Amino acid sequence: MKASVLLSLAALSSTGLACLLPEERDGTMMHRVVRRQGQSGTPIGTGDRFSGGSVVPRGLGSQTGVTFSTILNPTEIVSGLKALSNTYGITTFTTPYKTYNGATIYGAQVGGTGSGTGAYKVFFNGNIHARERGSADNVLYFIADLLYANKNNVGLTYGSKTYTAAQVKTALAAGIVFIPLSNPDGVAYDQSTGSCWRKNRRPNSGGSYGVDLNRNFDFVWDFTKKFASSVAGSTASTSPSSETYHGTAAFSEPETKSIKWVFDTYAKVRWFIDLHSYTGDVLYSWGSDDNQSKYPYMNFLNSTYDSVRGILTDTPGSGKGYGEYVPAAEGTANAAAAQRLASGLTAGGGKTYGYYQASDLYPTSGASDDYAYSRHFADPSKNLVHAYTVEFGFGSSGSCPFYPSVANYNENIRATNAGFFEFLLAATELGLE
Ligand SMILES: *[C@@H]1O[C@H](CO)[C@@H](O)[C@H](O)[C@H]1NC(C)=O
Ligand SMILES: *[C@@H]1O[C@H](CO)[C@@H](O)[C@H](O)[C@H]1NC(C)=O
Ligand SMILES: [Zn+2]
Repeated sequence: MKASVLLSLAALSSTGLACLLPEERDGTMMHRVVRRQGQSGTPIGTGDRFSGGSVVPRGLGSQTGVTFSTILNPTEIVSGLKALSNTYGITTFTTPYKTYNGATIYGAQVGGTGSGTGAYKVFFNGNIHARERGSADNVLYFIADLLYANKNNVGLTYGSKTYTAAQVKTALAAGIVFIPLSNPDGVAYDQSTGSCWRKNRRPNSGGSYGVDLNRNFDFVWDFTKKFASSVAGSTASTSPSSETYHGTAAFSEPETKSIKWVFDTYAKVRWFIDLHSYTGDVLYSWGSDDNQSKYPYMNFLNSTYDSVRGILTDTPGSGKGYGEYVPAAEGTANAAAAQRLASGLTAGGGKTYGYYQASDLYPTSGASDDYAYSRHFADPSKNLVHAYTVEFGFGSSGSCPFYPSVANYNENIRATNAGFFEFLLAATELGLE
């Protein structure tokens, strides 16, 4: 099973072994990439194309014959958000946690039916990993398109996908909360140095910088205890200089605290996407081990299984075999929306995206998607959240494979935006409550 998944990824990959592994899991491999070779790929925008909020962003789905030639810088992401608020009256927010370098994390809510934070059922998070260029842009431009199309009563087109004006209204009615740029320090650093930077910019003991934010969430965070010793070291790292350093404690970082704050504040969120690049796939829960729906007590909360968690070749039910519990109906919905998401990504960008259970590739700890899905198991008073990692794009051949060419940057916008649209429709059909 695992081998066939890896083979199908290999078939999609044109740039070699590094692309076999989702960037989430390639920390050790990426150490071997030679850094600081200067910028490559799509240039970063200089100045502020949205003039502090007076020029409104518009995406690629609402216009034809347009190519974006530069990536948004952090100033532009904030001013673009302000412009959406100025133009369409959407409500923006800032989270209560400043980053190490003093940046504010901005978000907004759009659409929804009813009032209050409970009206928002879908959460999009962008650019938690700094070097995954275009992640924030994909989110911002998608929201800009939805708002433009809604206001003007028109549809949207991404690649071979066309959505009607009525579908735009259906998608918006789901209610969306989003943070386009969840790692502003990391992105500012990556954009100014071209150093293929992944983490945030916290100074660590020992002189290195950065925590891998997507290993810092409170889901089997303490991987040295929670996983079989044979696999623990590939789920994250305790070494501060590592690309997958998980920090000094779960939720030690203002960026991850901010994302938790969104889930706590928008307590009716039912569907979540954390947007990463690259490998051209959609990952659904769990990332800790294979799923199983037979043994409810066999789950991440049960320390009986700490010594065997993460071994993918064992069979649950046979002695100490372990699989992470998914109630059957939730598992069906998890996979169904992943399939829809992948179909949108494929149609929007024109390249085939796969969808897999996250652990099929490598077990992970402390990831945002697993944390989001785990909340209702850890505390039954919390809402069920179906959670996904999207890995957009297929890598590039420059000094940092996460830096897309202009053609790929535009293709990624179309792919993710059709994926997001399909996800909103799937969520609406599968259930927002
Ligand atoms: C944990 O798993 C063990 C072994 O199957 C089981 O006996 C125990 O009841 C489980 N604990 C909880 C709290 O479910
Ligand atoms: C578990 O994951 C597999 C794919 O790895 C999927 O086919 C199956 O539907 C999932 N089952 C549940 C209960 O989530
Ligand atoms: Zn990532």
